[in-house]
Amino acid sequence: MTPIRIIVCGFGNVGRAFVRLIEDKQEELISRYGIAPQIHAVVDISGAAIADPDGLPLDQLRGLMDSGQPIERMASFGRPGMSGAAVLQSIPADVLVEATPTNLVDGEPARTHINAALDKGMDVITANKGPVVLFYKDLQARMQSSGGRLFMSAATAAALPTLDVGKLCTAGARIQAVEGILNGTTNYILTRMGREGCDYATALQAAQDLGIAETDPTLDVEGFDTRNKIILIANQLFDQCLGITDVETVGITGVRREDIEKAQTDGRVIKLIGSVRRENNRLCVKVAPEALEADHPLAGVHLSEKGISFDTDSMGRITVTGGHSSPTGAAAALLKDLIHARCFQTQRQP
Ligand code: HSE
Repeated sequence: MTPIRIIVCGFGNVGRAFVRLIEDKQEELISRYGIAPQIHAVVDISGAAIADPDGLPLDQLRGLMDSGQPIERMASFGRPGMSGAAVLQSIPADVLVEATPTNLVDGEPARTHINAALDKGMDVITANKGPVVLFYKDLQARMQSSGGRLFMSAATAAALPTLDVGKLCTAGARIQAVEGILNGTTNYILTRMGREGCDYATALQAAQDLGIAETDPTLDVEGFDTRNKIILIANQLFDQCLGITDVETVGITGVRREDIEKAQTDGRVIKLIGSVRRENNRLCVKVAPEALEADHPLAGVHLSEKGISFDTDSMGRITVTGGHSSPTGAAAALLKDLIHARCFQTQRQP
């Protein structure tokens, strides 16, 4: 049995769901994969809790989560005011799980956390898209020099497999195009508006109540979250180094109920699509609402479900749907990457 020492930065919906999964699945992780993840530190906006060398007691951690108290209040282990950067400096660990909110201005505090962990040669598993979208080249250079690795399933549509399908399951095939419904919040809003005639504000509030909208929901509805995900997918699958200014982005704030009804009358359905296409030796990457024909493979993806469709040269079209947005789904994607990193991909990433 291999113990894995983990530092969790960010203790909102996703960070908490990850800790719950680790506790719930302890025995299965040992029996199926031979790994024993231990949470050595948790950091939130107010401070931290640290337990080295044995890991934080998960039952006590769950009690703290259930009581809604900040992590710095954890009896015997709490460190008021301690930052993620300080935690990363002060204790050894194998894996950083980065689940702080996405910041698209300077990527902080996640950038500092990820850089520190990679520079120490740790594996980084991130749900946070900010640093990966803004500083992809820099992160690649750090990985090259330190041997640290970065896994980002949770940042690329989480429970919906996207990169795994594009990298592993289509190996040897040439991907000509990718289309995705990559944001659950906007798909939820469009579905509720189309099915029930629900107004935009009510549908957005319901998505927020489900805990699937970003801390700043503008990121969802303006298409920025979809843009961030399609950038990460394009960079990984098409060997690009795109940034946020390279992708023409239109969200759903301009989609009116009349537009949805008109599309329905024409037998179509409006979805927010992030796409990458090879066109005349150049790559076209964009985000926009599109009126899909009823037989399009993504037309039947509703509510907070997502979907991705790959058009390939030798495998034809491959579509994966499901993986609805939820904190538990994002945590499950973090756990998947943890298992892949420690059990199946023990070599350096290419
Ligand atoms: N806000 C996102 C969504 C989840 O609605 O899918 C995190 O990427």
